[in-house]
Amino acid sequence: RKRQRAVAVVPPPMKSRKKARQVTSRFHRVQEQLHAAEAALSAAKDAGQATGDTEDKLRRLRAELQQLGGREAYQQASRLQLQFCDSGRYVFQQLTSRGFRPSRREKRRPRVLEIGAVTRTLLRCPWLDVLAIDLKAQEQDIREVDFFQLEVDSERPFDAVVCAMVLNCVPTAAGRGQMLLKIREHLAIEGLLFVMLPKRCLSRSPHLTQPEFLALCEAMGYALLHQKASPKILYFVFSLRERVPLPDIAEQRRNPRRKKSTTRKGADVCNFDVRLSDPALDDEQARQG
Ligand SMILES: C[S@@+](CC[C@H](N)C(=O)[O-])C[C@H]1O[C@@H](n2cnc3c(N)ncnc32)[C@H](O)[C@@H]1O
Repeated sequence: RKRQRAVAVVPPPMKSRKKARQVTSRFHRVQEQLHAAEAALSAAKDAGQATGDTEDKLRRLRAELQQLGGREAYQQASRLQLQFCDSGRYVFQQLTSRGFRPSRREKRRPRVLEIGAVTRTLLRCPWLDVLAIDLKAQEQDIREVDFFQLEVDSERPFDAVVCAMVLNCVPTAAGRGQMLLKIREHLAIEGLLFVMLPKRCLSRSPHLTQPEFLALCEAMGYALLHQKASPKILYFVFSLRERVPLPDIAEQRRNPRRKKSTTRKGADVCNFDVRLSDPALDDEQARQG
């Protein structure tokens, strides 16, 4: 008797790097547009204006996201890209060379917060005590929580925070700034912050150059210890020297060229930006239109 072929109930794993790149960049683009449309909808509702067009746009964008395979397809694409971005090895090397790796006799393992974890690479490391979080957990021991909702334990700050290819997933410039500001609350003074970003975020953006991004980090209290670049990815390690209060950061440094920036379109352009602002003030400005 002929054997029946099993029917696949889950999509086959993604194999093409090109496809993976397309999925992640489309996902980011749609997420940014969704975020802007949601903000426009709530502003229109507050002002008592018609919302039909914006609601149509939101429906179209949600359908596009679903057609793409949602966050699951996006994370699968990220996993594939991860094989070529060895952020785990970089973290281990840097922690070891900076004296964070405990000797065999030492009981205390360095505490690490991994934001946006799609694999168990760091969790598997026997000499680290890792809290791995993600908006959508793909593994049992990755905690499903939004970083912005994670409670700060000021008694036990982390020795290192790993933010690999995550800042570029946050949909707004102010949100990215908030992420960098909030990381300081979780991180011990002299603790390490690892940031990995697609190279194009800082080489193809009309809003922010690499020196401007580094100056922004420095203004917050992060001192750059090391950086390297692969053909597609930038790797940075910072040490948190102090948590400079937001009002003490001059407007010029929070936002190096806000006045000149324009949104450009085109395949080679990336609209990555980071803005340091007070969320309460942002809400107030949005309410005032
Ligand atoms: C491109 S993947 C990066 C995965 C991995 N860190 C790497 O090095 O490739 C970005 C991940 O960040 C997660 N993420 C984005 N914003 C987040 C947030 N606010 N809190 C927790 N995770 C977040 C996404 O769900 C996604 O799984």
